Amino acid sequence: MDTPPQRRSRPTGHGSARITVTPGGPLVVRGDVELVDADGEPIPRHRATVALCRCGRSTIQPYCDGSHAIGRAAIRGE
Ligand code: FES
Repeated sequence: MDTPPQRRSRPTGHGSARITVTPGGPLVVRGDVELVDADGEPIPRHRATVALCRCGRSTIQPYCDGSHAIGRAAIRGE
């Protein structure tokens, strides 16, 4: 059985990065990428791999705090 495309791991090469779009979740950023805010100011990054919120519900923007899953559960009435 093939591994789903979002779970495949490929080398990114030296100095490159990979951004993975997770279904209904964050953008997972792996590699050497500078994060900056709207004013161009650096955003502290303490890990080589970070998850960036794209649902707008996270309380630790721009990072994902898992709230996207709660939002989906609420939509389903759980
Ligand atoms: S994508 Fe995870 S909290 Fe927004």
